[in-house]
Amino acid sequence: MTKQVATNITWHEGSITREEREKKLGQKGATVWFTGLSASGKSTIAVALEQVLMQRGFCAYRLDGDNVRHGLNKNLGFSAEDRAENIRRIGEVSKLFADAGVIALSSFISPYIKDRDLARDLHKNDDLPFLEVYVDCPLDVAEERDPKGLYKKARAGEIKGFTGIDDPYEAPNSPELHLRTDQLSIEESVEEILKMLDQHGVIKL
Ligand code: ADX
Repeated sequence: MTKQVATNITWHEGSITREEREKKLGQKGATVWFTGLSASGKSTIAVALEQVLMQRGFCAYRLDGDNVRHGLNKNLGFSAEDRAENIRRIGEVSKLFADAGVIALSSFISPYIKDRDLARDLHKNDDLPFLEVYVDCPLDVAEERDPKGLYKKARAGEIKGFTGIDDPYEAPNSPELHLRTDQLSIEESVEEILKMLDQHGVIKL
């Protein structure tokens, strides 16, 4: 649990309710949390999903590991502690987007169950949907894809602590959705997520 450092701070309520925001947007705010190995397809699916949601008149916004590490989280590396802080911050940011009525599409390896559960609890405590999508493909398929050449570098010992090679990945036990990206097309994965969003009352198809 991250310690509260600041003292003498008071929560300030607004006069616009979440329900009012959601009514205006015609959707519920929610976080779709993509977890999986590097090159499993998290970002690719999130990009395709964002496009389909926008085309259908919904409001979504992507938060992506590689991108967020260029800005907000540029001071974090890949130790277990830094990965935990990466996910804690993004859990909080996703929650803010969801509270604003937006569908946050958060793609992070997020290899530790404990860190993902913390992000889930943040949402639960604020009564916001947190929908975990396990973007699953066998390591050898991810390694074969290797779009950034990082697995090759990790195997050559040029990157230390690379997830799946010499750093752990803890698969979710009960994600809201499990996608096998070595068996499904991108379109099929997007379709599955749309159905999930509909089932959870986030959007109406
Ligand atoms: S997380 O583990 O903290 O959730 P995050 O999703 O933000 O990771 O960033 C992962 C991305 O950083 C990978 O897709 C890859 O491009 C890059 N990367 C660089 N070094 C590593 C590493 N040691 N382990 C995993 N990904 C790495």
